[in-house]
Amino acid sequence: MIDSPPPVDQASQRLNVVLGGQGGLGHALVELLSGRGEAVMVFGRGSSPPLDYTQPPSVEACAEHVARQLRHSGQVLARLIVATGVLHGQLPGGQAYGPERSWQQIDPDALAHVMQVNAIGPALVMRHFLPLLPRQGRAIAAFVSARVGSIGDNALGGWYAYRASKAALNQLVRTASVELARRNREALCVALHPGTVETPLSKPFARRGLNVRPPAVAARELMAVLDDLPAGSSGQFFDQHGLAVPW
Ligand SMILES: NC(=O)c1ccc[n+]([C@@H]2O[C@H](COP(=O)([O-])OP(=O)(O)OC[C@H]3O[C@@H](n4cnc5c(N)ncnc54)[C@H](OP(=O)(O)O)[C@@H]3O)[C@@H](O)[C@H]2O)c1
Repeated sequence: MIDSPPPVDQASQRLNVVLGGQGGLGHALVELLSGRGEAVMVFGRGSSPPLDYTQPPSVEACAEHVARQLRHSGQVLARLIVATGVLHGQLPGGQAYGPERSWQQIDPDALAHVMQVNAIGPALVMRHFLPLLPRQGRAIAAFVSARVGSIGDNALGGWYAYRASKAALNQLVRTASVELARRNREALCVALHPGTVETPLSKPFARRGLNVRPPAVAARELMAVLDDLPAGSSGQFFDQHGLAVPW
């Protein structure tokens, strides 16, 4: 008698790639996906190969690594989640930077760095990773943005570099969604606002009165949004409740 083949493990045949998967929100997303039995590959500055947007060739090297995995495993890239981003920190030269309260504080090196990490890096991710999405069937590329990148929603001002870099990211997402639709009409490319999440990025700025949620809660909310994204919702900007954020 011939044994029937084991049931195909659908979850393990669908690969998730999380860029920034060692950050606060990214790690929570990885834990959530792994807990669901899904296959996950994680990249960050500490991964092998490393992903560092200040070293643009690292983006292509990570994409090639994923392409090899897809070829060897027969897996399909089902979700690409980009959870990278900076608001404050140190420039490659060691100088500290943070969100500007006034135009007086605009610094060209800090502005260039925040643009590099929040917009140019994800643009290179689009160039090298979006071609790895399948040509048919549902697949998602989700870029974690921020509501403060919304031009229409900007009533408070300040945070010039972060706001401008996320607005640039949002435009890149919208543009890539148009091109992606020509390759695969079922593929979705979206920007996400995760709400305020308790991570190193938000820690110095999470004001009292804001609804600051643990990363695990934010990850559950964002994954529910991605799981429920309706067909035709590509090229849009959603918050953690699945509501559209104005551009
Ligand atoms: N926390 C919030 O309240 C909040 C609110 C709105 C939007 N967001 C957005 O959510 C996303 C995740 O942020 P988070 O709160 O989880 O912050 P986080 O814990 O500080 O994580 C930041 C991530 O960005 C990555 N990163 C930083 N510099 C990089 C570089 N040069 N090259 C490649 N990756 C780099 C880090 O990777 P390494 O592992 O290499 O350090 C880390 O994974 C960001 O896009 C952020 O703008 C957060």
